[in-house]
Amino acid sequence: MDFFFKPSSVAIVGASPVLTKAGGVIFQNFVHNKQHDLFTGELYPVNPTYESVFDFKCYPSVSSIGKPVDCIVVVVPANAVCSVLEDSVRGGVKGAVIITSGFSEIGNHDLEAKVLEIAKKGNMRIIGPNCLGVYDAWSGVDTLFLPENKILSTGREVVATPRPVRGPIVLISQSGALGAAALDYMAGRAMGVRALVSLGNRADVAEDELLRYFRNDEWTRVILLYIEGIRNGRAFLEAASSVSLVKPIVAIKVGRSSSGARAAASHTAAMSGQDEVYESAFELSGIVRARNLDEFFDMGRAFLYQPPAKGNRVAILTNAGGPGVMAADTLEESGLSVVELSGETKSKLERLKAEGKILPYASIRNPVDLSGTATSQMFETALRVLVDDDEIDAVLVITLHHTPAVLDDVVGKVIHACYDRRKPVIACDIGSTEMAEEIRSRFEKLRVPAYTTPERAARALYALVTYGKYLEHVKKHGLL
Ligand code: COA
Repeated sequence: MDFFFKPSSVAIVGASPVLTKAGGVIFQNFVHNKQHDLFTGELYPVNPTYESVFDFKCYPSVSSIGKPVDCIVVVVPANAVCSVLEDSVRGGVKGAVIITSGFSEIGNHDLEAKVLEIAKKGNMRIIGPNCLGVYDAWSGVDTLFLPENKILSTGREVVATPRPVRGPIVLISQSGALGAAALDYMAGRAMGVRALVSLGNRADVAEDELLRYFRNDEWTRVILLYIEGIRNGRAFLEAASSVSLVKPIVAIKVGRSSSGARAAASHTAAMSGQDEVYESAFELSGIVRARNLDEFFDMGRAFLYQPPAKGNRVAILTNAGGPGVMAADTLEESGLSVVELSGETKSKLERLKAEGKILPYASIRNPVDLSGTATSQMFETALRVLVDDDEIDAVLVITLHHTPAVLDDVVGKVIHACYDRRKPVIACDIGSTEMAEEIRSRFEKLRVPAYTTPERAARALYALVTYGKYLEHVKKHGLL
């Protein structure tokens, strides 16, 4: 797969100087990345119409380049794709990313079969067709035909499809649009991205091979999967099970309803299948399933910053009763246990009350409610006790900033109490004011994921517990 992610040379077939065309945007991405030393391979535009594109000598065909080409990006109409591939296999090209639509997703199965036949005979691998292809933040490969910036009607230039900073998250998506939206989201949350792969119709390369590739990739730590339907269930299960032993996978599976399944079929020619089958396949292979897009990213962020939990016993620390109850409800509904605190922990908290280190009217049942007049320091003091308790596997901290004595220093206090523990701690602050945003973003900079609602925080914790449970299970059976 390296020729897709770290090619020594790339040809863009259908490269164009016209920046409103897909071939124009893709070629410009590579030119930009080459100029900034991000993409270090050779770059060739291919289009019989031009002598040169953006000062790069343009070739009428791939075979006329006369030098080795690792990978081509195909951005020509569907009826020209086969001849491009035939010419390219003659030139020894190893991989083709086919952006073009108009294949099995609209019932044009014969054309897709022909594409596959040419590729197989020529020993060439294919991503797509009908996809966005590959965005690799580390190698500068960027086949997304989505312009990074757009000009508003007011004349102001704004970022439209950002390319996020480098990092450890891989997103493998059947949907290109979801992939692009994910880049937007992740750039906004400063989540570092290793790569996005939009698979489209998956005529050849599918999730299983990519999972194996990223399993062994040193930069990858978390894998997010958007799935409409899996074709080779066994290969997928084997690959996912092997990845889950070393890296967490979060999946969102759509097409659960009959109309959703119909939409998936005409989107990427996917067969959605029975939802229960996916549910148990995910469970078997250690994949954590997200129920919706919010959870998908929330869980990804949890895995990005925190370790899996060793068990399902959770403590809630809060300065707000209601949100504490909401967190408790969602945790319990998700199969986690908001445990009764041990006698020892209760005594420690009582002592803190007696010493005036937490308020005398704080509730020291679980949730531990420090009350509306608690200070930031009280969060640190109480959290230390909870993270030190061996009968607690994870802590959900709700730091509502609206109360008088909680300032932005609460973030540092929480971090102080838990930074050296291998026990997950996640945070919640509700609201959309500057203060709320500031607190959440500071938490995340310090690697504690912070959520806008107790329910979202609880579900993110569910992901850490579920994956932790899987790891304990495989360890017990000698597989780890
Ligand atoms: N070799 C090299 N270049 C060729 C060619 C060939 N055999 N045949 C055509 N071209 C060139 C054309 O000259 C043109 O460039 P120019 O206009 O600057 O001269 C360029 O390829 C594109 O061809 P064009 O006919 O203008 O097509 P287009 O740009 O309007 O559309 C696609 C091409 C691939 C973008 C379009 O067919 C398509 O599939 N769009 C949907 C893509 C999509 O949504 N994918 C899924 C995303 S999730």
